[in-house]
Amino acid sequence: MLERLDKILSNYGGLSRSDAKTAVKSGRVKINDSIVKDPSIKVKDTDEVTLDGKKLTLTRYRYYMLNKPKGYISSTEPEPGDESPNVIGLFKAEGVKGLFPVGRLDKDTTGLLLITNDGELGHRLTVPGKHVDKTYIAKVKGVLNESAVEAFLKGFEFKDFVSAPAKLEITDSGTVEDGVEFSTARVTIHEGKFHQVKRMFARVGCEVVELKRITMGNIRLDEGLKPGEYKELKPEELDALNME
Ligand code: URA
Repeated sequence: MLERLDKILSNYGGLSRSDAKTAVKSGRVKINDSIVKDPSIKVKDTDEVTLDGKKLTLTRYRYYMLNKPKGYISSTEPEPGDESPNVIGLFKAEGVKGLFPVGRLDKDTTGLLLITNDGELGHRLTVPGKHVDKTYIAKVKGVLNESAVEAFLKGFEFKDFVSAPAKLEITDSGTVEDGVEFSTARVTIHEGKFHQVKRMFARVGCEVVELKRITMGNIRLDEGLKPGEYKELKPEELDALNME
């Protein structure tokens, strides 16, 4: 982390940005025991910052991209009767407190899941009305054709919402495996309602048998990550997501 001192003071010292600048200029702030008077100076993770002699705890926010494996739950609440492991358990070695998934994927869904300890970001991305396009690869039981593409584009009326136009790109249709027809497609949706993709395919008579998320806004799953593996993202990599 390399952040401006005035930003650090407002994030961790409870000061407004202008009070932070004044506090620095009036000599109330020290970095590693030396008074600093430049509010724009960059602070490192390892620096000790004090305000009026009191040490600030700099909790660094972390952002990870996880390739979620099958069989893991991503809800923040325990699911009664389901002892399956939670995705957060995959991050034990990081020793970071307060990690949580941004949004959720079903237990049998794989792919891109953002994990962070930045509650504000998590909130901003999941508040109702906040929409970030998400792309999934789906394998479904059944045959997909042009009428499904049109239906996805038109939107479906569900009891809890009406889906915005979604882009369905069929990549394979009607391949027979053990006497059963399967199709594969890429689908981009706008909202993120409970079981949304599965419910949309059900409307065109298809059952989703495999589902993998590959993008969220401008963030694309790094295909080099095996299921269960993750990598840290820089805050700038998430900025695009924030701005949408
Ligand atoms: N839509 C679904 O049906 N399931 C998911 O996990 C994500 C989107």
